[in-house]
Amino acid sequence: MKEKLHALYAKAMEEVASLNTSDEQISKSLEDFKVKYLGKKSELVSIMKEMGSLSKEERPIMGQLANDVRSKIEKAYGEAKEKVSKLELAAKLQAETIDVTLPGKCIAPGKAHPISAVQSEIEDIFIGLGFEIVDGPEVEYDYYNFTALNIPPEHPARDTQDTFYINSNVLLRTQTSSVQIHVMENKKPPIRVISPGRVYRSDAIDATHSPMFHQVEGLVVDKGITMGDLKGTLELFSQNMFGENTKIRFRPHHFPFTEPSAEVDVSCFACGGKGCRLCKGEGWIEILGAGMVHPDVLKRCGIDPEEYSGFAFGMGIERIVMKKYNIDDMRLLYENDIRFLSQF
Ligand code: PHE
Repeated sequence: MKEKLHALYAKAMEEVASLNTSDEQISKSLEDFKVKYLGKKSELVSIMKEMGSLSKEERPIMGQLANDVRSKIEKAYGEAKEKVSKLELAAKLQAETIDVTLPGKCIAPGKAHPISAVQSEIEDIFIGLGFEIVDGPEVEYDYYNFTALNIPPEHPARDTQDTFYINSNVLLRTQTSSVQIHVMENKKPPIRVISPGRVYRSDAIDATHSPMFHQVEGLVVDKGITMGDLKGTLELFSQNMFGENTKIRFRPHHFPFTEPSAEVDVSCFACGGKGCRLCKGEGWIEILGAGMVHPDVLKRCGIDPEEYSGFAFGMGIERIVMKKYNIDDMRLLYENDIRFLSQF
């Protein structure tokens, strides 16, 4: 029995030594080793079963020896296991090494389309002046787009703003002025809002026309609002938008829903007013329509024109984008060609 135990021990030591190499199968071999030498069906266990046939004197000596062998094998197994896991970790770290000096993957960040960028800029300026931003429907009733704005059926202004009709009563809005009516129907003065959004007209596409474009509407209604407030507001806006030396100019005009009405120009921000290609030698660039809200429009929305007055203005975003970035063909703004858009 003693010989058997010694032989077993020697065999186990030989085998465990051969395990101490780094090899993909190593964990599996370790497991096999454990089962073979330390498991319930191991050779050691069967040797120990022979213990019963030993004499009283021999039994404790052999028991001691068997225990010795067992604990030595266990120790060797533990050491081998630790060594293997160290080797495995080292191999893993080696395989997963990151070279921090390699160039990174370059993901080009996107940015706002020039129309959205200018719209946000306009919104920021008016928010700074205490305005609220409101939304309105693009699919609109005839009443809000025309009739409520003093443009009844058969009015000639309908010809200049022909649009797409869903049916005889519902259309795609031609101007954000329709939002004025919604706001005044739902809110009592003081009112101070702007409303940006898409508008539609059945125009043929060319360098300066598109059947869909963007406007920003402005509306202020309160007690004692005058044309001076309109001028001051638009002057502040223009100086923030186009530069602090920008001047504005009002030219008399006609809109059915404002009285008096004006077209508003800003001094050319390219030449400062001397005259250049951008302003076509004029020194001025037309940017918006404006006026004092017509008393009939106020009345229709349940606001007493004897008590309240207001001003409104509307500007085309594309026009401002084109002037600001010196773009001479509007179609470029809708083609979404990244080579064009990435310039801004
Ligand atoms: N809605 C007008 C247009 O599209 C612009 C405008 C808005 C004029 C508000 C006066 C007041 O031409």
